[in-house]
Amino acid sequence: MCGIVGYVGDKTAVPILMEGIKKLEYRGYDSAGIALLERGEMVFQKNAGKIKVLEENLAGKRFTATCGIAHTRWATHGEPNDTNAHPHTDESGRIAVVHNGIIENYRSLKKYLEGKGHTFRTETDTEIIAHLIEDNYDGDLLSAVRKALKRVEGTYGIAVVCKENPDEIIAARHGSPLVIGSGSGENFVASDVSAILRHTKQVVYLEDGELARVTPDGFSISTLQNVEVTPELQEIEWSLEQIEKGGFEHFMLKEIYEQPVALQNAQRGRLDFEDGMSRLAGLQLQLDELLSINRVILTACGTSWHAALIGEYLIEDLSRIPVEVEYASEFRYRSPIIPDGTVVFVISQSGETADTLAALREAKRKGATVLGICNVVGSTIARETNGGIYIHAGPEIGVASTKAFTSQIMVLSLVTLLLGRMRHMSIEKGRQLLEGIRNIPTQVQLILDNAEQVKRIADMYCDHNNFLYLGRGINFPVALEGALKLKEISYIHAEGYPAAEMKHGPIALIDENMPVVVIALKDQVYDKVLSNIQEIKARNGRVIAVASQGDDEIKRLADHVIYIPNVLYHLSPMLSIIPLQLLAYYIALNRGRDVDQPRNLAKSVTVE
Ligand code: F6R
Repeated sequence: MCGIVGYVGDKTAVPILMEGIKKLEYRGYDSAGIALLERGEMVFQKNAGKIKVLEENLAGKRFTATCGIAHTRWATHGEPNDTNAHPHTDESGRIAVVHNGIIENYRSLKKYLEGKGHTFRTETDTEIIAHLIEDNYDGDLLSAVRKALKRVEGTYGIAVVCKENPDEIIAARHGSPLVIGSGSGENFVASDVSAILRHTKQVVYLEDGELARVTPDGFSISTLQNVEVTPELQEIEWSLEQIEKGGFEHFMLKEIYEQPVALQNAQRGRLDFEDGMSRLAGLQLQLDELLSINRVILTACGTSWHAALIGEYLIEDLSRIPVEVEYASEFRYRSPIIPDGTVVFVISQSGETADTLAALREAKRKGATVLGICNVVGSTIARETNGGIYIHAGPEIGVASTKAFTSQIMVLSLVTLLLGRMRHMSIEKGRQLLEGIRNIPTQVQLILDNAEQVKRIADMYCDHNNFLYLGRGINFPVALEGALKLKEISYIHAEGYPAAEMKHGPIALIDENMPVVVIALKDQVYDKVLSNIQEIKARNGRVIAVASQGDDEIKRLADHVIYIPNVLYHLSPMLSIIPLQLLAYYIALNRGRDVDQPRNLAKSVTVE
């Protein structure tokens, strides 16, 4: 999704802005641009394609500007070409705007402005903002931006500069994240802290409806209604090393390999062996509130939604509380019934997904207690929920989510343990789960140590154009997630199914060209899954099985067996997904795909 970086200070702006937008590349984009206040003039460069193109076009030009804004665009209105790339300007070319989000009433605003003599050069909704600001500008940029935004409907995170206000950036937010970075003699604006982490760890997150006036010496924040806001500085915990590749070829591979540490961090300080339960103070719920929960709704998008499905198996089986899982994009537009005693968990790696945020707000409006399971500390979802649990996976930069997924399941296991122990679960069962949870990071490491085998299988199957993924019980969502990983980064068609559903349709697809990845662990549904494998083999399908260590029987049936350590059924998804992440990665690599920035995808989906 689009990225914003702004700089105003005493250094040359170009390198800081370029480095900043490069840090946002992972979010997905199709064009990039920059606007500088250069010796009393506004200078632009913007290009379709990668940041490299922009860099080539800037090369050799000696800029001295100490104030500017830069942008990576993920097209929504108008194709990704040079003209539609941001920044966009007003009629006179004095004012430049970069924008994340969507202006919903841009057509009526355009008509209004055209009526006043404005002409437009692009197909974008963003250009309207620049013209609206111009329409209200009388030397005071902050006031002009405020007046313009009062007419705007939709979502935005914007940064604005004006030729006549050379040491000033105005930033504003409504529904699209924006952070102000505080430095000494310099200040920053960014849509994601990773863009400015090299320069400062002191930041202020703008809230919806807030504007910031940022100068080299400081910044002030006010609302659309012109009420002053006292900025609350926060310290970013992530380090620079964490957002770099650290010797791995791709962020995705690095993040797959970080899972043992991430899973350790997700459980650190939260295991209570004495009482056989978990400690989750972040939920901020009193004992009676925890006891009165009689229904759970889990809502999320994409991979986080798959984690929610696993949460449903966990909580219903072990805590004996009815659970509903719903796509956040559906939840927000339904009229969900939320009786007393319902707790809604929103699950989001980024904490900024527009649909999930909207579902959160809808649930709150209906009076539910809404809790978050997030990775990014200080993200909008983390701030707007009544309480929650951070997964502490560290920055996830590869577009395909890996370590956040397993860490979300880890946290859902801890929630299950807490809710279960307050109801039917015995202390012995609680301790058994805790023991299993404690072993997960080491077991994940053992699977990673066997990555070469998965790579060999990937080499053999990378030319196939269709894959089926099957699993049962708690491993059915893992099949969905395995298929999603493959399609996202290799562009191969893949479908996940509950194994027994195969005979109700997908079995028609099976022949020697259809590899079927089957999760067949030694659990309560093992025999059933073996029968499904037999059905596939009878039709000449190729089976890649993920099986439990020591299971020799499956070798006779499957074409390839990837073993994982023995694990409690309810914790098994944290292990069974690892070979599937590796398989997707190596197949995509074989096909020469851009693993970290797959086409059309964005890391943080901040538009609807
Ligand atoms: C898939 C993936 C997406 C995200 C989805 C939700 O690999 O990353 O499906 O899971 O966009 O994002 P978050 O968890 O940030 O709300």
